[in-house]
Amino acid sequence: MSETKKYRVGLGVSGGIAAYKAIEVLRLLQKNDCEVRVAMTKHATEFVQPLTFRALTESYVFVDDYEPENPDPIAHINFSQTIDLLLIVPATANIIAKFANGIADDFLSSTYLASNAPVLIAPAMNTTMWEHTASQRNIDKLKSDGVFFVAPVAGELACRTVGTGKLEDVENIVAQALQLLVQSSKSKVQSQIDLTQDSRFKTQDLKGESFLITIGGTREAIDPIRFISNHSSGKMGFAIADAAQKRGADVTVVCGTTSVKPPNSVKVVRAVSAEEMFQAVMKELPNATVFVGAAAVADYRPKNVSDAKIKKTNQDFLTLELEKTSDILATVSKNRHNGLLVVGFAAETNDVISYAKSKLEKKNLDMVVANDITLNGAGFDSDTNIATILKRRSDEKIEIPLMSKQAMADKILDEVIKLRKKIYP
Ligand code: CTP
Repeated sequence: MSETKKYRVGLGVSGGIAAYKAIEVLRLLQKNDCEVRVAMTKHATEFVQPLTFRALTESYVFVDDYEPENPDPIAHINFSQTIDLLLIVPATANIIAKFANGIADDFLSSTYLASNAPVLIAPAMNTTMWEHTASQRNIDKLKSDGVFFVAPVAGELACRTVGTGKLEDVENIVAQALQLLVQSSKSKVQSQIDLTQDSRFKTQDLKGESFLITIGGTREAIDPIRFISNHSSGKMGFAIADAAQKRGADVTVVCGTTSVKPPNSVKVVRAVSAEEMFQAVMKELPNATVFVGAAAVADYRPKNVSDAKIKKTNQDFLTLELEKTSDILATVSKNRHNGLLVVGFAAETNDVISYAKSKLEKKNLDMVVANDITLNGAGFDSDTNIATILKRRSDEKIEIPLMSKQAMADKILDEVIKLRKKIYP
């Protein structure tokens, strides 16, 4: 396999109607920095021709070790040991049963036994077959062996019945595959397996930059017990912080409430409310060369915070008066010192590009990363994201397809570097 792509995926296709969905999975993986090679069961070839996968991957598609034109005499070993993930889409009850029992009577089942890579299985089958005790027993067995599953969903099946057994959406399967790839590459990094394989660890292309990044949500107190907040997890901001630090930058994060921990290597300043975040940013700002507003800062806070717990009364309604908080990003931009690059985020549910454009202009940003949080695989608590990057005085729209937040962080940083060269060379 080539070394130009970040991840190598072995895609196993078994024989069911949903086999055609494996083509979409393949395309989406390719768009997300994955090199994919395909193995099919004999029955899968009744549904989709190996030629389709061969044309899309430009690689031989394995069905049978003993085929005369098979270019590799021990293909199931070589295939299985050069992949970062074995992904089965769709998985029939039969292939699941073979995996669960260690049966290796064809290329795909032999590959499963010969592989050390994580395995993700996306089953699709008739509801009765799915619910059968034998299938469920095999699935439980595989789960206890450490195999991951993307459970099938309920819906109308090819056999015209309605029930559980429909292949999960392609986007969700790919999102889970990417998540596993990121996790397993992280654990490889932790166990010190060849860090230098990834060019980004070698290139210190952000050396000399000092990043100041706001991350997470804020909490605006109503009384000593309650607050107003939002769903921000901090994952995107931390991914940027981690990647920038690995690429040589000094990084300080001003961190609100998050559901994940900050990377060890970066300086963390804690802030609970929008006002605390504002003050912390203003204090750290003079040292920064790049400001990234990745936090979901409350736009309004209760005007009067009660000193005591607000008690329930006989009234059916309670009115809270809210006042505006300071816009941290806009203030940073307004007071920017020479050389400071200012990057904002725009998380939207509708009219994404036009809102993002207006934020770019109103807040005088160099760049805005726009997210449609209604899309599958994008949004606050997800490990993946989808974005469009817009830049100041430019009609360029950089589309970043579904990928892990770590991979997206690197794409965003690539654009920061381009901006640096363009605006303040
Ligand atoms: N932001 C900020 N301070 C605020 C509000 C927002 O720094 N008080 C930053 C965010 O970190 C993000 C950008 O501004 O980088 C856009 O935030 P968003 O909540 O999407 O937009 P708002 O300007 O608050 O507008 P609206 O909520 O109406 O979409």
